[in-house]
Amino acid sequence: TGVLSVTSESVPLIKSGGLADVAGALPGALAGQGVNMRVLLPAYRGLLKQIGRTRTVLDLPDLFGGKGRVVAGRAGDMQVLLLDAPHLFDRTGGPYLDADGRDFPDNPERFAALSWAAAEIAAKGLSDGWTPSLVHAHDWQAALTPVYLRLRGIAVPSVLTIHNIAFQGLAPFEKLQALRLPPELWERGDIEYWGQIGVLKAGLIHADRVTTVSPTYALELRRDQFGMGLQGVIAARPDGICGLLNGIDTDVWNPETDPEVVSFSTRSLAGRAKNRKRLVQEFGLTDTGGPIAAVISRLTRQKGLDLLPEVIPGFLARGGMVAILGNGDADIQEALRSLAARFPGKVGIYLGYDEPRSHRVFAGADCIVIPSRFEPCGLTQLYGLRYGAVPMVVATGGLADTVIAANPAALDRQVATGIVLHQADTESLRAGFDQLLDLHAQPETFRRIRRNGMAADFGWARSAQAYAELYQDLAPELAS
Ligand code: ADP
Ligand code: GLC
Repeated sequence: TGVLSVTSESVPLIKSGGLADVAGALPGALAGQGVNMRVLLPAYRGLLKQIGRTRTVLDLPDLFGGKGRVVAGRAGDMQVLLLDAPHLFDRTGGPYLDADGRDFPDNPERFAALSWAAAEIAAKGLSDGWTPSLVHAHDWQAALTPVYLRLRGIAVPSVLTIHNIAFQGLAPFEKLQALRLPPELWERGDIEYWGQIGVLKAGLIHADRVTTVSPTYALELRRDQFGMGLQGVIAARPDGICGLLNGIDTDVWNPETDPEVVSFSTRSLAGRAKNRKRLVQEFGLTDTGGPIAAVISRLTRQKGLDLLPEVIPGFLARGGMVAILGNGDADIQEALRSLAARFPGKVGIYLGYDEPRSHRVFAGADCIVIPSRFEPCGLTQLYGLRYGAVPMVVATGGLADTVIAANPAALDRQVATGIVLHQADTESLRAGFDQLLDLHAQPETFRRIRRNGMAADFGWARSAQAYAELYQDLAPELAS
């Protein structure tokens, strides 16, 4: 007995964003609650080799156009199940995109196969004797799992977590049969999204429980502005949707023991100065003594980083510096690259995905800038808090739930942890950078804000308990 977590990415094996951090942290967090969890994910190219000794625990002779099997192994402490189906997953490129950055045309089938495999595991169990009591599916890539469970009458309860409603798993109607979905599902409207198949929608209707990754996002999802067309479906769920805040892995993200950085802590911030020096060097900056604002992000519209070029020059003129680590949309990449070219020594940029470098940036920067238009939870503000890089965020989703604005009342009571903007627009952002400059010019106050953030608790304990309770509510045998 245990929980089968179904996800398209998970650290330490494969990561494109925060989902991987969360999927990778949940098993350890839940072990602390006495819940055994295994993680099912696709065997993308190279992954089988990464998990060392393996054994086949389920054969899937007819898996969406080829043979598949489920292989059990370990990645660190995590019990992994890899869906080995070379015709779907053994390819160059990332989990979702080919080498040229285009979506694989058969993504609907690829992730339907992942969900199908999950349902098969729930129906039959694995040959090593393990059978899940509950399935926890993440995002659209796993959202057909609850649907297949219901359609096939498999009496295993399901939880679906929305990490990002912007990705809905859309496919043309013609794929209905290929995705092993009956026409009745379409006729009932369960899977029809503006004339296309919408996989996430069907999952939201058929999962036994739906959760998302922060309380504020759970409320926002019911509104037109954030629901992306699914607000009605969400509002129609009688049990609503529950927002459980993500935690962070405080062993990996620990400035006292992080091998990438000069050690520092709330007690002694001295090491931070050295990390700043290194950052200045690494990003080719000339230190003015002013605040260093950093970006560590996917470069997409969601993150609001297209707003930076307009406001950064004013910040630089007052002594600020900027370090950017990111990759993503070509136009935003280009705009930031030319910003760096215009201001050598003041704006440094590294375009690419580089996990170790991200640790060094959090440890050396004064501020992490996250002007998201929406943010289900967000993890970089949490890493920033923990490493003393004061977050500048828009009050939306998980950002609103995790950062305490440095307004006069909070400063007075010494509880402020960051700079909070009301809108993702250039005017608010300009005000935010001005506030950063003003606070940074008051070393005592700034140190206080830094320390407050570093001392805050964003570990998994609380949410792990909430997940365990939710699971046990649906599958009482999980209570140990
Ligand atoms: P999202 O999942 O929407 O991208 P999150 O804040 O939840 O946003 O998670 C992003 C994760 O990816 C964090 O762990 C962040 O540190 C990491 N990350 C994003 N871009 C980069 C990059 N270019 N290099 C290294 N890490 C990155
Ligand atoms: C998504 C969201 C992000 C969240 C992450 C993990 O990628 O964009 O806000 O932190 O999932 O739940």
